[in-house]
Amino acid sequence: MSGLELIDVSKSYGATRVLDGVSLAIGAGEFVAFLGPSGSGKSTLLRIIAGLESLDAGEVWLGGERIDGLAPGARGIAMVFQHYALYPHMTVRENMAFGLVNAGVPKDEIARRIAQAAETLEIATQLDKKPGQMSGGQRQRVAIGRAIVKKPKLFLLDEPLSNLDAALRGRTRVELAQLRTRVDAALVMVTHDQSEAMTLADRIVVMNDRRIQQVGTPAEVYARPANAFVAGFVGSPAMAMLPARVAGHDGARVRIGLPCGADLPTAIPAAAGLEEGAPVTLGLRAEHVTLAPPATPGLPARIDLVERLGDRTYLYARLSDGSEIIAHAPGFSAVRPGEAVTLAVDAAAAHVFTADGTAHHPGPRA
Ligand SMILES: Nc1ncnc2c1ncn2[C@@H]1O[C@H](COP(=O)(O)OP(=O)(O)OP(=O)(O)O)[C@@H](O)[C@H]1O
Ligand SMILES: [Mg+2]
Repeated sequence: MSGLELIDVSKSYGATRVLDGVSLAIGAGEFVAFLGPSGSGKSTLLRIIAGLESLDAGEVWLGGERIDGLAPGARGIAMVFQHYALYPHMTVRENMAFGLVNAGVPKDEIARRIAQAAETLEIATQLDKKPGQMSGGQRQRVAIGRAIVKKPKLFLLDEPLSNLDAALRGRTRVELAQLRTRVDAALVMVTHDQSEAMTLADRIVVMNDRRIQQVGTPAEVYARPANAFVAGFVGSPAMAMLPARVAGHDGARVRIGLPCGADLPTAIPAAAGLEEGAPVTLGLRAEHVTLAPPATPGLPARIDLVERLGDRTYLYARLSDGSEIIAHAPGFSAVRPGEAVTLAVDAAAAHVFTADGTAHHPGPRA
């Protein structure tokens, strides 16, 4: 294994377990995002990989070498933090050179690496400035530059974009995407911004409750969430989760009954845990719920909230039993809060989660 491998990593602070048996393998050139809610252990795991935090049990391997016993500086890893952590009294050039001077890299080699990184990050004209004279986005680029010049086997980035304003965030996101094509190393980025994870990463590691919930490509995590947590966490707006029961089977496909009386034919193959009468949760993404055209059947609902985003509108609504559902309408919808509407549900796209946490996804459409 030439990339990064975590084997059964556990960590407690006092009596509180924050990571519980985390195992993961990342390829040598892969870009992976750790995604999860606040407190789910993302930064702790990153700090354990970097050697800034000890682990209670487990192993960390990088490039075929076990590194969890090594000092941080000996691991071949460079880390970029949310708060830049630049030395304020040093120029940009000195900040970038600092670690290399300490490591005994020859002067001309240091100059060459800094020039190259500065060009990649478009900060070549800023090298004699001090961090205090730069914008947040420029400082973050310096911090990334300081990581690049180390020529690490692995980059660790802990929420590198979260201190930037929206426009700068978008631009720096594009720069990060370009960066990964220019550096020959694996990249692990922590974020709780799922659009960042979805757009940048080859694979997403969803963390919650001390454990990895799912590892997969952005498309897999979105279309085939491993459990109700992942389904509710990935995607914006969140997948609506409706209390339901298995109403029966149409041939080999499951039919779901809702408390409002609706009986929906899904595309989910019959499986264990989906016997008639079993309590389940029906998962529906907004793009599969729309306003029914006049005089067509659908589910009666009342609108709670209207979110107009310009190119599309999200309608947060309630079915007759009070279940919350989110519908999608194209463009600028004229629907108002309080309005009674009829919703059309594409039940063939629905997901079903059983009480034991298992996810059932629609099979291929007929
Ligand atoms: N040094 C510490 N001492 C005690 N508890 C800690 C310490 N560092 C982290 N924790 C706890 O460990 C858990 C995981 O923290 P961690 O910082 O890894 O979360 P995170 O996923 O990075 O969250 P965020 O998205 O808010 O940055 C939290 O409950 C936190 O309170
Ligand atoms: Mg964190």
